[in-house]
Amino acid sequence: MTDINEIGATAFVIAAIRAGESEKPQPLFDDPYARWFSNDRARAVAEQLDAAFPPSTSMVRFRTRYFTRFVERGIAAGARQVVLLGGGFDMRAHLFADSDARFFELDQQAVLEFKRATLAENGIEQPPSLFANYLEADVPNGLADLGFDRAAPTLMVWEGNTMYLPPESILPFLNRLAEAMTSFRIAFDYFAVDLQSRDFENEEDRRRLEDVERAMGASFPTGFADLKVFEEQAPFRVAEDGSFDNLAEEFGLGEMVAAYPEDWRETLKLYRYCVLERR
Ligand SMILES: C[S@@+](CC[C@H](N)C(=O)[O-])C[C@H]1O[C@@H](n2cnc3c(N)ncnc32)[C@H](O)[C@@H]1O
Repeated sequence: MTDINEIGATAFVIAAIRAGESEKPQPLFDDPYARWFSNDRARAVAEQLDAAFPPSTSMVRFRTRYFTRFVERGIAAGARQVVLLGGGFDMRAHLFADSDARFFELDQQAVLEFKRATLAENGIEQPPSLFANYLEADVPNGLADLGFDRAAPTLMVWEGNTMYLPPESILPFLNRLAEAMTSFRIAFDYFAVDLQSRDFENEEDRRRLEDVERAMGASFPTGFADLKVFEEQAPFRVAEDGSFDNLAEEFGLGEMVAAYPEDWRETLKLYRYCVLERR
């Protein structure tokens, strides 16, 4: 585990948050595997996140439920493949084992080696996986070598990734995917603020986001103040866009979010989901 870098280490923190879900009064999902990837350090970071900005771990819960719904709906609508891009310890390949869709995973080598070893200890096989930095690898061909069909309708889950990436890498990466794959939707979470220039509308937002970065031990160099770039500089249509806190009612936690102070709710408007559809 020593060669897992600070971005890879964030995957353990997300697993620690998911591992606590069954103890919540109103669980939003069931991930019985998450505890395999949780540890004392990751639990301590999750506590620091709660201390830095209390809704932050709740928003990870919301996003887990949201991306699972994206996969469920996408498969019901005909998707035949799902790629967990920067998937970390996402166990949806196993949670959706009964579906007709084929799952593929992609993450840094050290993260996936740890995952494969942990799954093996528990008698589970790792799905077809590309062990690579996806910004440097030829993702469509690398996946094709594992049996991926570049023409089949595909869902890409890009959860908890965009904020960690170099800003200039995102559009070229998406354009490379779109050149090689004709039918896919990609869902991701993002911060709706120009983090490249740290252009915050108010100091509270800046302080909260920077406190969350510090707790995570990784910086957030990228945000998107405007999603039009994906329609103007890449061949996508924005199919969905919204803030996670607005899902509270639908997820049965409307009262919890309604009780947040107004200024917390303002900051939460910055944490959003988006689905892009290849045109
Ligand atoms: C916050 S974790 C999220 C993991 C998972 N998607 C989830 O929500 O549980 C971020 C993950 O993205 C991976 N990642 C970030 N940038 C990457 C890159 N350029 N290539 C491969 N993996 C990357 C990290 O290694 C880490 O596992």
